[in-house]
Amino acid sequence: MPDRYYLWTVGCQMNKADSEKLAAGFDRIGMTATDRPERADIVVINTCSVRQHAEDRAYSKLGRVKDLKKERPGLKVAVMGCMVGLKTDDLEKRFPFVDVFARPQQFDGIMQLVEGPTEDLGGEFWPSTYAIPEGPAAYVPVVHGCNKFCTYCIVPYRRGREKSRQLDEIVREVAYLALHGVREVTLLGQTVEAYGHDLADQPDLGDLMRALSEIERLKRIRFLTSYPKDMTHRILEAVAQLPKVMESFSLPVQAGSDTILESMRRGYTKSEYLDKIAEVRDLMPHAGITTDIIVGYPGETDAQFEETCALLEDLRFDKVHVAAYSPRPGTIAFRKMEDDIPAAVKAARLQRVEVVEASISLAINETYVGSTQEILVEGVRGEQPFGRTRTGKLVHLDAPARVGSLIDVRIDHAGPFSLRGAAVDSLALA
Ligand code: SAH
Ligand code: SF4
Ligand code: F3S
Repeated sequence: MPDRYYLWTVGCQMNKADSEKLAAGFDRIGMTATDRPERADIVVINTCSVRQHAEDRAYSKLGRVKDLKKERPGLKVAVMGCMVGLKTDDLEKRFPFVDVFARPQQFDGIMQLVEGPTEDLGGEFWPSTYAIPEGPAAYVPVVHGCNKFCTYCIVPYRRGREKSRQLDEIVREVAYLALHGVREVTLLGQTVEAYGHDLADQPDLGDLMRALSEIERLKRIRFLTSYPKDMTHRILEAVAQLPKVMESFSLPVQAGSDTILESMRRGYTKSEYLDKIAEVRDLMPHAGITTDIIVGYPGETDAQFEETCALLEDLRFDKVHVAAYSPRPGTIAFRKMEDDIPAAVKAARLQRVEVVEASISLAINETYVGSTQEILVEGVRGEQPFGRTRTGKLVHLDAPARVGSLIDVRIDHAGPFSLRGAAVDSLALA
C-alpha cells in the first residue's frame, strides 16, 4: 500500500473541505501526508473549473507531476474535483499518466488506487470520516451541489444537484470538531440557505444553527455562500437572534444591471437584491456583507457596467470579489452567447471595480478604529496572531495571544484589507 500522500488543492472552501476529508480517509488507513511531491507514493490534484485561470493552475501542476512520474513510474497519480466531468475521455487523452480521475467527492476510485478498505458509503459521502481539525476554525459542508444553473457557471454540472446532509450527522461532526479544539465552524453550501429543502422534515438553515448553538464548546457559527432568493426572513431572524451565529454575509450580486441579471438567470432583479440587503441591515445594522461581481459578461455595455459600479457605491460592501467573465464549456452562456467583451475591456472594468471598492473598504474599516471587537484568535502568521471580528474583518494582533481564545481587541489601525489592534485585557494573552 502506498505510504505517503501529497495532496494539492485549488478552488473554493468546499473543495478544500473535500481535500481535508480525503486526507482524513488516508490517515485513517495509516498513510501519512507529505508536502513534497517527490517523496510521495501518491499525488492527488484537487481541481477547480470555475474560471480558465483555475484550470490553468492545475494543468501546470500536472506538467510537473508528469516529470515525476517519468522518473518514478510507480508513482500513483489521481486527479479529482470540478475539472472532472461525467466523461473523462478528453482528460485521459491529455493526461495519460494519470491513474484515476475522480468526480468531486467520489473517493472510491482513489481509495481503490491505494488499496485501502473500500467501505459502504451509505448514500452519504463518508458520513463517519471527519476531517482532522488543524486549528480553531473549520469548514463543514452542509449542502452539496447546486440547482440554480446561472448561465455562466460550471458548478451544477460538476457537483450535481442540491443534496443536504442529515441534520444529526452535521451536529455529530461539529460536536467531534469542537471536542478537538474547533471553536468556529463555517457551514458551506453553494447556496447555503437551500439547506434542508430536500430532507424529509425540511429543517432550514436556522434550525441547523439552533441545533449547533447547543454545542457548548463551539463559540461561533458562520455560513457561506448566500443566495438572495433562498435567504428567507426566518433564516435571517435566526442569524440575528442566535448569539453564536456571526452577522457576516457573503451575498453575491454578480451585476448591477437588470438586463445582465436576467441574462445570467440569477433569479432576482436589482431591486429585489436591494430589498434583501435592506432586510439584512434592518435586522443587523452592523452586519458585514461581501459580494461577488463578474465583469465582461457577454454583451455587457459600458452603461450596464456603470450600473454595477453605482450599485457598489450605493450598497457599500465590506469586500468585493471581482472576476472577469471566463467562458466555461458546457454552460448555457458558452453555448448560446458570444464572449464578445475584449480582454482589455474586461481588465479595465475589473481594475475599476477594485479601485472603487478599495476606497469603500478602507472607509468602512476606518469606522472600526477606536472600537473594541471580539476576536477569535485563529492562528499566527510570522510572529503575529490573527483572527476575525464577528463581522468577518481580518485583525492582526500586536501582542502574542493564545490560538483558539476569544478576546476583546481594541482596534487602532485600519487598512483596506485588514485591521490591527491589541487585546484590551492583557490577562487574556496568557
Ligand atoms: N454559489 C455562489 C458562487 C459560486 S462560484 C453564487 O451563487 O454566487 C464563485 C464565484 O465565481 C461566483 O460568485 C462568480 O462571481 C464567479 N464565477 C462563476 N463562474 C464564473 C465564470 N464563468 N467567469 C467568471 N467568474 C465566474
Ligand atoms: Fe453557480 Fe449560480 Fe449555483 Fe452559484 S448559484 S454555484 S453561481 S449556478
Ligand atoms: Fe468550488 Fe471551483 Fe468547484 S469554485 S465548486 S472548486 S468549480
